[in-house]
Amino acid sequence: MYVPARNTIGTVLYPVAVSLIGLLAAGHLLGAPAGAETIPIDRIAHIHGVAVDPAQPSRLYLATHSGLFRGAPDGRATRIGSSTDDLMSFAVDPTDFDMLYASGHPEEGGNLGVLASRDRGATWERVAAGVGGPVDFHAMAVSGAEPSVIYGMFNGLQMSRDAGRTWLKAGPLPERTFALAASARDVATVYAAAMGGLFVSRDEGRSWDPAFMQPRPATLVEVTAEGRIYAFIYGVGLVVGDEPGTGWDVRSTDFGDRYPLKLAIDPGDPERIHVVADTGAILTSKDGGRSWGSYLGHDRETPELVAAARKTYEEYCQACHGEKGVGERPKDMHAQDQYGFVAPPLDNSSHGWHHDDGNLAHTILNGSPRNPRMMPFKDIMPEEDAKNTVAYIKTLWNFRSLACQGTRHMRCMH
Ligand code: HEC
Repeated sequence: MYVPARNTIGTVLYPVAVSLIGLLAAGHLLGAPAGAETIPIDRIAHIHGVAVDPAQPSRLYLATHSGLFRGAPDGRATRIGSSTDDLMSFAVDPTDFDMLYASGHPEEGGNLGVLASRDRGATWERVAAGVGGPVDFHAMAVSGAEPSVIYGMFNGLQMSRDAGRTWLKAGPLPERTFALAASARDVATVYAAAMGGLFVSRDEGRSWDPAFMQPRPATLVEVTAEGRIYAFIYGVGLVVGDEPGTGWDVRSTDFGDRYPLKLAIDPGDPERIHVVADTGAILTSKDGGRSWGSYLGHDRETPELVAAARKTYEEYCQACHGEKGVGERPKDMHAQDQYGFVAPPLDNSSHGWHHDDGNLAHTILNGSPRNPRMMPFKDIMPEEDAKNTVAYIKTLWNFRSLACQGTRHMRCMH
């Protein structure tokens, strides 16, 4: 479900009773001020920036078309502060987690210039207009080597050496740059993910060299505090290198026709990374990008819960749905019996991922109205077990199925 217009996000999207429950739950769980606006993460149309909230690493800062939100794995996003501006770029100071930067444009038109918040997004102050400003940076990066150095993208690369107060024009940028990342080791080194590939500048943006051999589109680049570089190269996959970035390890290639556009690294656990896919879905990896799960519900995907759910699956479901969800007759996807279709695959190969988590759990608990063989399990297992079984089934899915799950599958049909 997509909400393209900014002013619809803030309006009443679901019944007051539900939102009241949401507010209470959010206020309790997230420490949000009473009255803070809470919406389902899936209703956020444009996430322009994502970062882990270091104080609560399961929470994500989401810089959106209509202000800053804090998202939680339970599927809720709570507005931080009161701004509804379109935040086109967003960055957290890697050495001072209270300090945030953003840029973009306000609802009324014009540009925001460079914004800074010293209170984790509750209030913002315009610290500079930027060169040729007010600027509307579409990418921003704070140096891990020297956090008073900030890079921003607006008519080329701009640079500040004093935490955003004054800016100078640093140089040109590779054509159609999508993302910037600053080195954690060297203050003069900055990376650019661009249409023509991944590039690096080692002289504060004056000149650029390819950082990855193949000149394929790079959609994102991020650097951890330890100097590990993550980039997504279209047609190659997620690549990882250590600064100074001369050798690359291809972490995963199994993205299908989808691609991640934004990436956030948990500063407390650099193997835990989150991406926003081109479909808008948020995915989480706990192993440095080798395997992926949905951000929503990822707290349910602990090794213990998944192992228990796998046993449930093997005991109650495998006889029909096959080992690892391959389906009853994997060679004949359209096989039928007297009731209709036989038990479909629950892995990537059929359309289980067209349903959201709630629908899948509902089918498990209530059975299928079309086929009595898919019996209701509600007298056999509690709702929690059904939800955990869904989490297990989703471990059988690839990035594409996860990125396209639920209503998003409409965007994934070609
Ligand atoms: C006796 C065989 C059988 C067993 C056991 C069984 N299923 Fe099913 N399941 C089916 C059939 C047949 C369908 C197709 C129903 C239809 O066509 O509406 C189905 C459909 C489903 C669907 C919907 C898939 C889709 O793409 O719409 C889900 C989810 C599902 N089963 C999960 C489970 C889980 C989880 C278990 C174990 C707790 C389980 N099933 C046990 C036969 C079975």
